[in-house]
Amino acid sequence: MDQTPHPADPSILFTPITLNKTTFRNRWAMPAMQRGMCEAGSPSPALADYYGRRAQGGTALIIGESAAVDHPSATIQPTSAHITPATRDGWARCVDAVRSHGGEMMLQLWHEGAMRTDGQALSASGLAHPGKPSGRAATLDELAEIRDGFARSARIAQEIGACGVEVHAAHGYFLDQFLWHGSNIRDDGYGGPLIAHRARFPAEIVSAIRAECGPDFLISLRFSQWKEVDYDAKVAPSPDELAEMARIFRDAGVDVLHASTRRFWEAEWDGDNRNLAGWTKAGAGLPVITVGSVGLDTDVMDVFMKEIDPRPRVGIAIEDLARRMAAGEFDMVAVGRALIGDPDFVSKVEAGDYDAIRTFTRADLGQLEWDLSIVEEAHATQ
Ligand SMILES: Cc1cc2nc3c(=O)[nH]c(=O)nc-3n(C[C@H](O)[C@H](O)[C@H](O)COP(=O)(O)O)c2cc1C
Repeated sequence: MDQTPHPADPSILFTPITLNKTTFRNRWAMPAMQRGMCEAGSPSPALADYYGRRAQGGTALIIGESAAVDHPSATIQPTSAHITPATRDGWARCVDAVRSHGGEMMLQLWHEGAMRTDGQALSASGLAHPGKPSGRAATLDELAEIRDGFARSARIAQEIGACGVEVHAAHGYFLDQFLWHGSNIRDDGYGGPLIAHRARFPAEIVSAIRAECGPDFLISLRFSQWKEVDYDAKVAPSPDELAEMARIFRDAGVDVLHASTRRFWEAEWDGDNRNLAGWTKAGAGLPVITVGSVGLDTDVMDVFMKEIDPRPRVGIAIEDLARRMAAGEFDMVAVGRALIGDPDFVSKVEAGDYDAIRTFTRADLGQLEWDLSIVEEAHATQ
């Protein structure tokens, strides 16, 4: 990375960027966030309005909330979205709403794996984390079926006009359960001590989507070191392992890597200021998205688990983001809760009107009907 000091000119955050064949009007994205606005797995008209409103407020890329792929094992959460033929029209309404306001939409493909709580979960090794058995390891035949479910759901996204999909391999869910040594003890070439083995199945999913949707369809892969069940976990304990994993995904067909952190300003390793996204970009040479507490002083998990209301932290964040982007650390910035709190966050930042931004509060989330029992139990015993 260029180590010379860079001026913090926010205008860099408002320059267009092209990823694969899709051009985004600026560098701002909204990350996937489950909002409980689906009926029988299909986004409601209210959810389409909500996405469209964020595009209207200037956000270039809207990433749909995590949606279960077309396989019966994917989730049992009652309010979750699904991407199946039955929910196609609901998602088409969302994509149309975003595009009508000049934005682009990707849909996030998700499977909860061992986070599923009914004992029927399929996952890498039947483990939500080292101390938590849940369901059982998927057989190779089941893995092939699940892979095909990801590809079918991606095809639906493509058919309704989404510019791409994001493969959810973060935060301790199904594909992250493969990536993390703590939840993957398979000995069949898909698990164990080597990152090359643990990344194999997520990479096969990417390849299957690429084969199904062709070369021009944008594929993002979201990963994280941290898990909801263990904030200190590391998928890649060293820069070399991170680079190896990132290159495996690049070679499988990923266009952009979304490196999920809880606070974007934190250095990933000592002795270098770069965050996880910066190290990822250096490792694979792919465009990357950064995320984590943009505009707020409290991270997402503390809001969920400690019930803290964040305070605004806008000016310092924008300066830091602009400086890091100018230095080549990352290419896009995802803003989660701050965009729930104010759909015009991006246009207000562009106008320099930071004081006008309405700060997110927990009350904005409403009643989240989400089973967090495995997460709560993990933190109670740590
Ligand atoms: C209500 C809520 C729901 C979320 N749902 C998802 C999800 O469906 N998929 C995902 O990858 N991350 C999900 N996240 C994490 C966000 O995408 C994001 O990474 C996190 O909130 C950090 O960004 P922020 O600090 O700007 O909010 C969710 C976060 C919130 C607040």
